Amino acid sequence: MNSFTYANPTRILFGPGQIAAIAKQIPESAKVLVTYGGGSIKANGVYDQVMAALGGRAVTEFGGIEPNPSYETMMKAAAVARESGSDFILAVGGGSVADGSKFLAAALVHDGPEPWDLVTGKAKIKGAMPLGVVLTLPATGSESNCAAVITHKAKGAKLAFAHPAVYPAFAVLDPETTRTLPPRQVANGVADAFVHVIEQYLTRPAGGMVQDAYAEALLRTLVAVGPKTLAEPDDMDARANLMWAANQALNGLISVGVPGDWSTHMIGHELTALYGTDHARSLTIVLPALMRVRRAAKRDKLLQYAAEVWDLKDGPADARIESAILKTEAFFRSLGMPVRLADDRIAKDAADKVAANLEAHGLTALGEDKGVTPEVARQILVAAA
Ligand code: NZQ
Ligand code: ZN
Repeated sequence: MNSFTYANPTRILFGPGQIAAIAKQIPESAKVLVTYGGGSIKANGVYDQVMAALGGRAVTEFGGIEPNPSYETMMKAAAVARESGSDFILAVGGGSVADGSKFLAAALVHDGPEPWDLVTGKAKIKGAMPLGVVLTLPATGSESNCAAVITHKAKGAKLAFAHPAVYPAFAVLDPETTRTLPPRQVANGVADAFVHVIEQYLTRPAGGMVQDAYAEALLRTLVAVGPKTLAEPDDMDARANLMWAANQALNGLISVGVPGDWSTHMIGHELTALYGTDHARSLTIVLPALMRVRRAAKRDKLLQYAAEVWDLKDGPADARIESAILKTEAFFRSLGMPVRLADDRIAKDAADKVAANLEAHGLTALGEDKGVTPEVARQILVAAA
């Protein structure tokens, strides 16, 4: 295991009724910009709870942040924030609202001409406006990590950035808020969280016993509660476990001291930028094919995954690996997720287009061993056809 520093400053407020607790997290004198998406929070009562908790504070609203939040939309939010003199951002919604708001928080203290440079890395993030999150969709872990993914529509680019300045100060995780999620979004969340764990675990053995065992516990939990939440929408224990598992999957804990492989995400982001594929659906298309194409490099961890997550402990090693990949596909299918490009009606030439875009974005050496070149990514998507 490598040396590491672990510091996650986000305070978690978990459970029913916790939205009211934001009153103690935000200064009385704050001028709050409440950011949200397309309106789900107004239909399900979350907006009313947030407004009640904010009490007499000065509040400005910015709604309309779209799934896969765009640079263009968030620049409009920046104008509203500046005009209103807001000094605290409260993001209420899913990962898109959280991510867009993180970018906004950094853009508002940026002194250069082009805030997009903060996403590409051309300009350094020097700070951010304070930010809190009320989460309504368990999936991304964005509520308590320091990453965000922003789409520049005009450039056709979907890129990630990370900086400690954009850690939310607090995150409210009330499983009750997830009751109104459409089944497609529940499934997306389960699959996204599952792939987050995989990308920090399915690499090469690195002696991280705690990280490995916790990753396996999270994967087994997601396999159990994902289909359960879909089949029994009123099972609040399942919803609570899903929300906590998705949070723990990407709060930085299981990645410390061990290698990571974000190539499924990077290839998936290109699919979303090109075809508008839901984030999680891009991942379930890429991952099984990536496991097949990269099975030699990942052999030891694939065997561990087969044994610890799918209880495949007997028989020839190659057969155990193939069974684990088939189990992974069957799990995704049981959630209603696609596992081939054709399942989402994406044409085969996606392989060439994604490879070209990875090259253009400088994402040319992905994976725990930098072995996923644009050519290997192309092979993965050919295998996913
Ligand atoms: O916009 P509204 O009306 O709120 O509706 C949303 C949206 O249409 C709806 N929704 C959310 N909560 C709801 C609800 N509908 C009913 N009841 C509720 N309680 O769900 C739809 C999807 O929301 P979105 O925020 O886009 O989903 P998700 O949380 O999956 O976020 C996806 C985004 O996060 C990025 C993805 O790339 C994508 O852009 N990611 C961010 C990460 C991070 N910051 O660490 C990591 C992830 O890998 C991911 O890349
Ligand atoms: Zn993801």
